[in-house]
Amino acid sequence: MDGIKGKVVAITGASSGIGEAIARHLAGLGARVVLGARRVDNLKGIVAAISADGGQAVYKKLDVTDTEDVLAFANYAVEQYGTLDVFVNNAGLMPLSMVNNYKVAEWHRMIDVNVKGVLHGIAAALPIFEAKDSGQFVNITSVGDRWVGPTSTVYSATKFAVRAISDGLRQEVSGNIRVTLVAPGPTESELAETISDPALKQLAIEKFRTDLLPAAAIARAVAYAVSQPADVDVNEIVVRPTAQKAL
Ligand SMILES: NC(=O)c1ccc[n+]([C@@H]2O[C@H](COP(=O)([O-])OP(=O)(O)OC[C@H]3O[C@@H](n4cnc5c(N)ncnc54)[C@H](OP(=O)(O)O)[C@@H]3O)[C@@H](O)[C@H]2O)c1
Repeated sequence: MDGIKGKVVAITGASSGIGEAIARHLAGLGARVVLGARRVDNLKGIVAAISADGGQAVYKKLDVTDTEDVLAFANYAVEQYGTLDVFVNNAGLMPLSMVNNYKVAEWHRMIDVNVKGVLHGIAAALPIFEAKDSGQFVNITSVGDRWVGPTSTVYSATKFAVRAISDGLRQEVSGNIRVTLVAPGPTESELAETISDPALKQLAIEKFRTDLLPAAAIARAVAYAVSQPADVDVNEIVVRPTAQKAL
């Protein structure tokens, strides 16, 4: 696909689900991808598979809650491939719960990963983009960035925040830096594993996690935004399963 071949794309949360699919798909289209997450064994396997298919990929252990780690991750892309063109803020978790269950540690964790992790990504990649006056952020939110219901209160709050951050950043950065938000509906991944209440997890799976999108559908949306000419900034893409009407 024009506009992707040769680009250096760093992806947080690339060890499973949507991040893994983005890495595989963009590498298949000729991007040089840099995968980050905490589960190094997963990253190793994905990088080996991409390489075996003729793609270019490297990985680095990454915890997005650690500012220095994220800085080192963005710099690693430049060390490995000489530049950084796209930074995908994808890492996230979704431990749904009712507020009056007071799962305060889970609220903190979601804010740390889903919101502060994205801000860390911006702080790490923006100076690189500004120095070369080009680059693109792709921030993965959720349909929960515009929808909230019982048990998604804090999760949706983190995604509403990332939507606000993305739109503010888009307006603040120079004319040649692009900001894209991709909001997936329910998608095949390990995300529901982060719900700690077994009954709620079962309910969420039965009510919302049917008719799931394949993670590759989100990867294709990212590829569309990245492939556009430099003067076209695809600001938002919302992707839902056709059969999913509830969210
Ligand atoms: N699947 C859906 O239905 C859906 C819908 C809307 C939006 N999303 C969003 O899509 C994004 C990806 O989630 P997914 O659905 O692909 O779920 P997933 O399979 O659970 O993937 C989540 C990724 O985030 C990483 N991660 C978690 N904490 C991290 C940390 N502290 N530092 C670095 N990486 C971390 C995980 O890697 P490690 O555990 O190896 O660190 C993993 O690679 C999330 O932002 C999620 O909110 C998903």
